[in-house]
Amino acid sequence: MKRRDILRGLAFAAAGASGSVTRAQVVPAAPTTASRWPLKSMRVDGATVLVTGSNQGIGLGFVKALLARGAKRVYATARREESLPDVVALDPGRVRALVLDVNEPEQRQRAAAQATDVTWLINNAGVPGSRTRSEDRILAAASLDDGHWVMQTNCWSPAELCRLFAPIIVKNGGGAITNILSVGAWYCVPQNTTYSMSKAAAAMMTAGVRAELDREPVLVSGVYTAGVATNMSGGQGMDPVAHAHLVLDAAGRGETDILAGTGVERLRDAVRADPKAVERERIERMHAADK
Ligand SMILES: NC(=O)c1ccc[n+]([C@@H]2O[C@H](COP(=O)([O-])OP(=O)(O)OC[C@H]3O[C@@H](n4cnc5c(N)ncnc54)[C@H](OP(=O)(O)O)[C@@H]3O)[C@@H](O)[C@H]2O)c1
Repeated sequence: MKRRDILRGLAFAAAGASGSVTRAQVVPAAPTTASRWPLKSMRVDGATVLVTGSNQGIGLGFVKALLARGAKRVYATARREESLPDVVALDPGRVRALVLDVNEPEQRQRAAAQATDVTWLINNAGVPGSRTRSEDRILAAASLDDGHWVMQTNCWSPAELCRLFAPIIVKNGGGAITNILSVGAWYCVPQNTTYSMSKAAAAMMTAGVRAELDREPVLVSGVYTAGVATNMSGGQGMDPVAHAHLVLDAAGRGETDILAGTGVERLRDAVRADPKAVERERIERMHAADK
C-alpha cells in the first residue's frame, strides 16, 4: 500500500462516522514539550561538565553550583593558566584545569582530546566588546575588526566548541549544551551594537544546533542573562552562583530558552509588548550616554 493510501486510511478511521477529516487527525500531534526524548532534561549529579571562562564571574558561579549539586567532574577552563589554581582548589578531586582560549583552534582541539568524558558543555566565555567605545558601533568605528573579534568570541568560537563536543556528548550517552547568551540578543544596545549582534547570532546558532541534535539525547539551551554581578556588569546585580542555580534548575526542567538574572522577565515582557518602544528607549539612552 502506498504511503498516501495509508494516510487516507488513517484519516478515514480518525474521522469516524461523521466523515470530516482534519489535518490534526492524520498527522501525529506535535510534541508539546521541546523534545520527545525523555533524556532532554539535564541533571547535574553524575554529570561531567566543561565550563568556558570559568576563572571569574558567571563561569566561576557555574563551577561552584555544579560542585554543590554533585557533578562528577568539572573541567574549569580559562585562557590564562595562572587564573585557574584557585578554581581547582575549590575541590581538587573533581575540578580539572584546562587552558582554553576559545578563539584558539589548537586549544579547542586539545580540550576536546583531553575532556573525552564530557556530558555537558557550558559555553560561557564572552566579551562585551572593545574598550574603545566607538569600536562597539558600526559607523563610528575606525574599522570593523573589533566587531569581527566580538562575533568570533561570542558566536563562532562557541559554535566550534559545539561541533567538537556534540559528538563527545552523544558518544557518552547524551547530555546538554548550554550557551550563555544575553538579553542583548533581543534588541540592539546601540552603544554595543557588535555585542548585540554577536549574541543575537549566537541565539540563532543555538537554535540551529538544537535542530541538528533533535534526534539525539542532548538538551540544547540558550540562556538569556542580564544583571549578574560580575566585572562585565560593573559588579551590579545577582550573585553569579544564584544565577547558575537558576540555569541548572531550568535545565533540570528541560527548558531550551532559559531566562536568568535581574529584571530579565520584565525586559522580555517589554520587548513582547512593544519592541519599537524598547528600541526608542535604547536610542535615547545612547544619546544620553553620548552627551
Ligand atoms: N554579567 C552579566 O550581567 C551578563 C549579562 C548578559 C550576558 N552575560 C554573559 O555571561 C558570560 C560571562 O560573562 P561575565 O558577566 O561572567 O563576565 P566576566 O566576569 O568578564 O567573565 C568573562 C569570562 O570570559 C572569559 N573570556 C573572554 N574571552 C575569552 C576567550 N577568548 N577565551 C576564553 N575565555 C574568555 C574571561 O576570561 P579572562 O578572565 O581571561 O578575561 C572571563 O572568564 C558572557 O558570555 C557574557 O556575555 C553576562
